[in-house]
Amino acid sequence: MSTSDLITIHELRKTFQMGRQKVHALDSVDLTVAANTFYSVMGPSGSGKSTLLYLLGGLDRPTSGQIHVNGQSLEAMDENALAVYRQRTIGFIFQSFNLISSLTALENVAYPMRFAHVSRRRRHAIAHELLKRVGLGDRYNHKPGELSGGQQQRVAVARALVNNPQLILADEPTGNLDTASGHAIMQLLADLHQNGRTVLVVSHDPRMQAYATHRVFMLDGRIVTEADYETATTISVDRSA
Ligand SMILES: Nc1ncnc2c1ncn2[C@@H]1O[C@H](COP(=O)(O)OP(=O)(O)OP(=O)(O)O)[C@@H](O)[C@H]1O
Ligand SMILES: [Mg+2]
Repeated sequence: MSTSDLITIHELRKTFQMGRQKVHALDSVDLTVAANTFYSVMGPSGSGKSTLLYLLGGLDRPTSGQIHVNGQSLEAMDENALAVYRQRTIGFIFQSFNLISSLTALENVAYPMRFAHVSRRRRHAIAHELLKRVGLGDRYNHKPGELSGGQQQRVAVARALVNNPQLILADEPTGNLDTASGHAIMQLLADLHQNGRTVLVVSHDPRMQAYATHRVFMLDGRIVTEADYETATTISVDRSA
C-alpha cells in the first residue's frame, strides 16, 4: 500500500459566466488526497461538489489553478491526453446511472472497452466477470429499463471498473436509491477501496459517510473545516425554521 499523494489540487477555481453574472463554482480549492483513501465530499446544493469531481475526472477544465494526479498535470494535457487519462485512470459513477438504454447490462459494461484492442468476445467475457463481481451475473442480458435502480447503479459500477482505474469518482451514487441499495453500492465502493483504489464520493446522506476514511466539507465553492461547516449548516437550518 502506498502512502504517497495521488491527487494534489492547488488554488483551483471554476467560474461560470451566466449572462452578466459570474458564478464561482470553485473558489480557490486546495486539497491533497493520498493514494488508497476513501473520501466523502459533503456540502449543500450548489457548493461545488460536482464541479470539483468533474474537474478531477477531466470532464471539464478549470478557470485557473492546478490539478496533479500521479504527478501529472491535468492542465498540461491536450484533449487526447485528457481522454486517455479519463479512460485509464478514472472510473466515474453518476447519480442517474447514465447507462445506454438500448444496450444490455453486458453491452453497457463492455462499451468503454470498444476502443481498446480487445476482441468483442474478450470484452464480453470481462464485462460478464465484472457483472458477477457486483452481484448481477444473472442479469447480464437485461436492458436498463428491465433493472431496478440499485441494479442499474451496480451495472454503472461494473462499467466504471472496466479499465481497472486507480481513482473512482462517484457523484451521489446513492441519491436515487433506497437505503438497502444505497448501502450495497457504498459497500461495493468500500471493497474497491480495500482493494487499493482511491475513492471520492459525493454524498448528502450521513448514513453513507461511515464508509469513508476521510471527509471533505464544502461551502460556497470552498473547502471548510468540519466546525465551520456545522456552524454554517446549523445556522441555515435555524433561519428556515
Ligand atoms: N455549466 C454550468 N453553468 C453555469 N453554472 C454552473 C454550471 N455548473 C454548475 N454551475 C453553478 O456552479 C455552482 C456549483 O455547482 P455544482 O453542480 O458543482 O454544485 P453541487 O454542490 O454539486 O450541488 P448539488 O448538490 O445540487 O448537486 C452552482 O451555483 C451552479 O449553479
Ligand atoms: Mg452535484
